[in-house]
Amino acid sequence: MRVEEQNKSTKKTHPVKYKDNDLQQTVIVKDDEKYEKLDLVLDEYEDVEGSLVTVLHQAQKIFGHLSRDVQIYVAERLGVPFAEVYGVVSFYSLFTVQPRGEYTIEVCMGTACYVKGSGKILEKLKSQLGIEPGETTEDGKYTLETTRCLGACSLAPIIKIGDDVHGNITAEQISEILTKY
Ligand code: FES
Repeated sequence: MRVEEQNKSTKKTHPVKYKDNDLQQTVIVKDDEKYEKLDLVLDEYEDVEGSLVTVLHQAQKIFGHLSRDVQIYVAERLGVPFAEVYGVVSFYSLFTVQPRGEYTIEVCMGTACYVKGSGKILEKLKSQLGIEPGETTEDGKYTLETTRCLGACSLAPIIKIGDDVHGNITAEQISEILTKY
């Protein structure tokens, strides 16, 4: 472990400065509470071989996404090269490096939904929110995504906002649906 600012006990204090040896840059870790949660995860897994994916999964749960700083922090604590962490994050689609919105809007692009107009619904959401799939609105409220069949084809076309499913909808109803969030 190469933590530069650490008191004599094992308790870490934040912000912590990390010098990343691969990238030759210093990362200032802020956001104490989230990093403290991540420290608990790392304390549990740092000596467990092959735990990188598990740790990253937990880190994403804590932060909502895996920023470059979080990736470097994990690399440092696990003693693996940043390139390895970055490689894993890039490889698995479940990991995201983009901040997530408060609500994720999933537009089903499965066959049943598509033939019933999910393409128009997606276009309406893109223009109304000003983002493309995979992006988050500037106010941090919505992340837009497309998805395969959500298993509720009888309600096609459907979108999911957070845990809510909206079925049998049209593009014209999108504005009204969004007012509920
Ligand atoms: S195709 Fe959309 S729910 Fe099945």
